[in-house]
Amino acid sequence: MKRLAVFASGTGTNFVAIAKACAEGVLDARVVLMVCDRPGAAVIDRALEMGVETFVFSPRDYASKADFEAQIVRLLDERKVDLVCLAGYMRIVGETLLGAYEGKIINIHPSLLPSFKGAHAVEDAVAYGVKVYGITIHWVNADLDGGRIIAQRAFPYEGSDPAEVHRIGQKIEHELYVETIKKLLCEL
Ligand code: GAR
Repeated sequence: MKRLAVFASGTGTNFVAIAKACAEGVLDARVVLMVCDRPGAAVIDRALEMGVETFVFSPRDYASKADFEAQIVRLLDERKVDLVCLAGYMRIVGETLLGAYEGKIINIHPSLLPSFKGAHAVEDAVAYGVKVYGITIHWVNADLDGGRIIAQRAFPYEGSDPAEVHRIGQKIEHELYVETIKKLLCEL
């Protein structure tokens, strides 16, 4: 059984989808760690409810990104993590974590990359007048939202309400993330 870590900063609906798929045997894997950089984020209670170990930290308690990433790498190493799934982890991965885990880190992003990179992808796409939206899962490298694409799914939307795009997109995210992890697990 493969060992996953999920990193999140917010609500954690993708974390729940992944952890549930593991618990129900849809994925032959276990979430052995949930890493969160925002004390108080809703995802923390969700992890506790699901019995998943958490590492919650505040970046400002560390002298540098290299310092907190070194701590994360120690935790991932100790738990023998096979795959790191970023799920709304709103922080750029630095060279310490990439140095140790590049090729084993994937991210989900709410746009059809390479369009609309960054933290406000849906809002930016709506402002642009986009008519076809989508979700991307990609490998993480040193370029923000720039790693090789693993999976994408598009959906049409003609309105102008970012909240509605998020709602439609999130349902797709949960399915696509689990499907994609399932495929990757066979290759690990
Ligand atoms: C997801 O929609 C994910 O695509 C997005 O954060 C949300 C987290 O939701 N990620 C990014 O924007 C990364 N640039 P969740 O906490 O409910 O899983």
